[in-house]
Amino acid sequence: MKTFRMTFFRTLITLTLACCLALPRPQTADAHGGERPEKKGVLLVAFGTSVKGADEAYRHIEELARLALPGVDVRMAWSSRFIRRKLDGEHLPHPPSPAEALARMMEEDFTHVAVQSLQTVPGEEFDDVRETARRFSGMPKGMALVETGAPLLSSPEDLERVADALIASLPKERKADQAVVLVGHGTKHPANVYYAGLQYALWKRDGMVFVGTVEGSPTRDDVLRELKVKGVKKVWLMPLLAVAGDHAHNDMTGDNPDSWTSVLGKAGIECVPVLKGTGDNDALAAIWVDHLKAAFARLK
Ligand code: CO
Repeated sequence: MKTFRMTFFRTLITLTLACCLALPRPQTADAHGGERPEKKGVLLVAFGTSVKGADEAYRHIEELARLALPGVDVRMAWSSRFIRRKLDGEHLPHPPSPAEALARMMEEDFTHVAVQSLQTVPGEEFDDVRETARRFSGMPKGMALVETGAPLLSSPEDLERVADALIASLPKERKADQAVVLVGHGTKHPANVYYAGLQYALWKRDGMVFVGTVEGSPTRDDVLRELKVKGVKKVWLMPLLAVAGDHAHNDMTGDNPDSWTSVLGKAGIECVPVLKGTGDNDALAAIWVDHLKAAFARLK
């Protein structure tokens, strides 16, 4: 009986080892030293929006990410609790939080996940996304590795590429004496310097393209001063935001006396708003996707 048991277990161990070795995919050890097949996935993390239809811009990036990484599961999460609760109140569906999405992927046996930020600059929101990803990376019985992809503007190369893409997508109807004002979010975070960096990169290409922000610098007053110096009479207002959401509809444009269109209008400057997010733009979306591909390549 003892010999039979020994032989049985020896055969079992041999078979298990043989099975593990025969599996074609690389293996990841679980907490008990067993092996799990490698399963790579992608999680895109956007801020989120409650403006109906504005999330098309996020879905545009999502589609391009799927095309860039065929066969890879690409999911979406929204980092804004405020937006998610607002949609809950209206009984509208929305993507889960980043932590919720990662926990679900952990439960579905993903071993490697690339988390791609859909932010514009590496500010506070990005810090949070990266920190959440870091805490899931190597969690017991969870993902072996979680890597984070950089926002749109994260390097000097990005500044040049984003400037080229923006210049290439300015409204065709715009005349040479008309200005274009790109309205970004802005932040108190040091990453706000990217807006000034982008302004410089744009001025090297077109002296009549300006960058302004809603909550950082350059401020609207900074932009207005420049417009007056250049004697501008008409501007095209475009969001430097992934989606044309609340800030585009209620701060950049809109009837309220404090909107950019109202304030610039009062200064005698005619405004033509273009309500399209940067996520809608193929060349800009491609930069986010390239950052994702770089993060995905680090999943080893
Ligand atoms: Co905001």
